[in-house]
Amino acid sequence: MSALLEATDMWQSFGGVQAVRGMSLEVSRGTITGLIGPNGAGKSTLFNLLSGVIRPDAGQVSFKEQDITRLAPWRRARLGLIRTFQLAREFQRMTVLENLMFAPQLQLGENFWPIFLRPGAVCAQEAEVYRRACEVMEIATLTNLRDDYAGDLSGGQKKLLELARTLMIDCDLILLDEPGAGVNPALMNTLTDMIWRLNREHGKTFLIVEHDMDMIAQLCDPVVVMTQGSLLTKGGFDDLRRDPAVIEAYLGSVANG
Ligand SMILES: Nc1ncnc2c1ncn2[C@@H]1O[C@H](COP(=O)(O)OP(=O)(O)OP(=O)(O)O)[C@@H](O)[C@H]1O
Ligand SMILES: [Mg+2]
Repeated sequence: MSALLEATDMWQSFGGVQAVRGMSLEVSRGTITGLIGPNGAGKSTLFNLLSGVIRPDAGQVSFKEQDITRLAPWRRARLGLIRTFQLAREFQRMTVLENLMFAPQLQLGENFWPIFLRPGAVCAQEAEVYRRACEVMEIATLTNLRDDYAGDLSGGQKKLLELARTLMIDCDLILLDEPGAGVNPALMNTLTDMIWRLNREHGKTFLIVEHDMDMIAQLCDPVVVMTQGSLLTKGGFDDLRRDPAVIEAYLGSVANG
């Protein structure tokens, strides 16, 4: 069976820095695939290439057997490939519920400014969007915060909201870049549970970049290791943690500062 997402021989440089050098990666449907590697390995750059935020110098990305290398992010979102993005300033001043109700327009590249300009229009959105937002708040354990401003949420609650927004759209693959960063231990469990449930109960496939190895160990199989812009190895986390080449890659990066 072919992969849901396949990136082949990706290259990306910034000035003199070769951030991604011939990296290839596959994400099979139904998996929670992890992507790890030392700081500066090129993980976030690869994510930007996969989600379409930047265009590669060379290489090919296909999703559901369709070449998407040159598609804009919102076109990829329409096909079912999405990533979380941080709450922009405007959205901090909206409530949790409003953020969820805006998500579809935002991520699908529709013009959402008119909605801002028409008072009360949020409430006038179709009942279907509202119904879905309520369902998503339940999944994300955000129901009792529905009328709180997003800007007042804790770091971890914001992460839950960012992930929840992706659920407002029909999607198959969700890219998460360091979902655990800045999340306190209690909410870390909630976040991990949420990702797990979305995978097992809702059929979502994930590709997750994360430095928290507990989260990787709990969620991800397989795990892909990237160093210096390229693939080092791929496998189950328990094997990788004992793999001398993986240990060396991490220790080497610490030793080099
Ligand atoms: N926009 C940019 N302009 C210049 N250099 C960049 C840019 N983005 C990334 N780089 C460089 O590319 C390399 C890879 O960076 P990237 O952010 O992809 O690594 P990463 O694996 O995500 O690291 P981390 O684990 O610290 O998030 C680094 O040397 C970084 O400094
Ligand atoms: Mg990064």
